[in-house]
Amino acid sequence: MRRKAPLFVSVSLIFVVGCSTPTELSTDTTVLRLAHNMNESHPIHQSLVHFSELAEEKSNGSITFQVFPNGQLGSEREAIELTQTGAVDATKVSATALESFSPVYALFSTPYLFNGAEHYYEVMESDIATDIYDLTATNGFFGLTYYDAGIRNMYTIGTPILTPEDLSGMKIRVQPSETAIEMTRLMGGAPTPMAFGEVYTALQQGVIDGTENNETSLTSNNHGEVAKEYSYTEHSIVPDLLIFSQSRWESFSEEEQQLLTEAAIASSEYHKELWANETAQAIEQAEEMGVTFHSDVDLEAFRELVEPMHEEVRQDPDLSPFYNRIQEMNEEVQTND
Ligand code: GCU
Repeated sequence: MRRKAPLFVSVSLIFVVGCSTPTELSTDTTVLRLAHNMNESHPIHQSLVHFSELAEEKSNGSITFQVFPNGQLGSEREAIELTQTGAVDATKVSATALESFSPVYALFSTPYLFNGAEHYYEVMESDIATDIYDLTATNGFFGLTYYDAGIRNMYTIGTPILTPEDLSGMKIRVQPSETAIEMTRLMGGAPTPMAFGEVYTALQQGVIDGTENNETSLTSNNHGEVAKEYSYTEHSIVPDLLIFSQSRWESFSEEEQQLLTEAAIASSEYHKELWANETAQAIEQAEEMGVTFHSDVDLEAFRELVEPMHEEVRQDPDLSPFYNRIQEMNEEVQTND
């Protein structure tokens, strides 16, 4: 039996049609809910839809996803909580948002953790990432794959951020995370944590002087209409993660889990290429909107200011094993170059 998902469903609605038998592909259709906080024009939306299509194809139509964009089911934090309880089956969130659910995720928001994009990809495609994803299994969810979310940089109204002095006293929106708050404070700014969906209005109303994110936020979310100075502080590379409800996952057969894993990894690869193209386009479009991109940033000065955060991580018994593996991976990348 094949059922079409209704356009709108309430969170409380029981949404499984038929049950999977534990060892094979089900012949019934299971429609899963996948939530995220970006709009439909954002590349992550396209990649999540791609994931859903691959899952449907590989399962002969027995597993499909209804994708809820725009934070319709809540902020990142709320979506994680819904995934924990199984009210939502899967969610795309920034790794930063997971910090308050598992402290190890703080690593990803630690400034200047990765030594460039190549190091980052190697880590995200290794067992370092999957070992981290599995840490929350007893907390109701786990990470299935990552999606490239670019390098995070500061962008502001008025003054570009070329040195720590430029950031002095500036109210900068950060993701709701202790690590992001500490980083911004050490870099010289006044951190203002808020959910992503509130940033455009906060910029427009002058509640904040700037924020930090990748280039697509300038266009996809129109931040470039208000914040015209984009400065390459390159302070972090934070992946987006697709997290999955543990209880829902366990309801699938091994074969179904395998096909979902394959679909997720394939969508992550698809996203990598899409991301590169969309970022280049976002830069062009933002320039047309009047945004200026600044590369003459004093990176060393910022790095030095946040160095104590690396020391804290090295002293933390939960974080340091992963930190050390990430550093070892960097050495391997350097040797192979
Ligand atoms: C990036 C990231 C999102 C996150 C957002 C934020 O855009 O891809 O997952 O929500 O930053 O700053 O909150």
